[in-house]
Amino acid sequence: MAIIIQPTHQITIIAAGIIRDALIQKPNLVLGLATGSSSIGLYKHLVRMHNTEGLDFSKVKTFNLDEYVEIPCDHPQSYHTFMAKHFFNHVNIPKENQHIPQNTIFNHESFCTVYEEEIKRTGGIDIQVLGIGTDGHIAFNEAGSSLASRTRIVTLSESTLDANAIYFGGDPNAVPEMAITMGIGTIMEAKQCLLLANGEAKAKAIAKAVEGPISASVPASILQMHPNTTYLIDDTAASKLKEIEYYKRSYTNTQKLKSL
Ligand code: GLP
Repeated sequence: MAIIIQPTHQITIIAAGIIRDALIQKPNLVLGLATGSSSIGLYKHLVRMHNTEGLDFSKVKTFNLDEYVEIPCDHPQSYHTFMAKHFFNHVNIPKENQHIPQNTIFNHESFCTVYEEEIKRTGGIDIQVLGIGTDGHIAFNEAGSSLASRTRIVTLSESTLDANAIYFGGDPNAVPEMAITMGIGTIMEAKQCLLLANGEAKAKAIAKAVEGPISASVPASILQMHPNTTYLIDDTAASKLKEIEYYKRSYTNTQKLKSL
């Protein structure tokens, strides 16, 4: 597990650089994508690289982590709308290569099975982008989710409804109560994970995820067992890490080794 602690604007630049390098190596990269404020900067840099450096996404396949159910795809707060606005409308990923969980609860079980099969058929996700909830959730795997869970329909916790109320006029009751999410087991099969976290509100979740025991109560803590996870954390989100100085020194040394 690599821990990179940098100023807020820098973490999305580093994340975009990791994706760019991987895409140059493998033009048909399979990307797992996240929504949320932490990933907006990442998409901005990838769009810039597409426009100014000709970074080519034409063979890329994408799978989003999650989507609310019971709101239409074109709802202003749907994750379909988020992805179109921040990323898909600005790069050349063919529409048929973009996968986002569906918005309806109708037939959700077979949808979830097919979603998992589609991921497998591509050979698996190469890089999975993740955010973290204030309660330590990843995607919409709330505290108490099985660490082996697969793509499924879930009920959102009160803390997630409260945190996401800001996007629904400040009213937690207006936030859809259910969502379809990739499972923790599904996420753990990605070859590489990049978890982005910024802001003080994430400090407790980051400390528990990185330094606490592995537990279903903090779903992100399972990433301690992932063979290739990079945490990209800004200074405030890192503020409760006990070993913060060690992580900073390790990163400096890793950079030193790379430049040799
Ligand atoms: C939502 C998403 C999660 C995301 C989280 C953090 O709950 N379902 O996948 O990690 O928000 O979002 P933000 O980046 O806005 O803090």
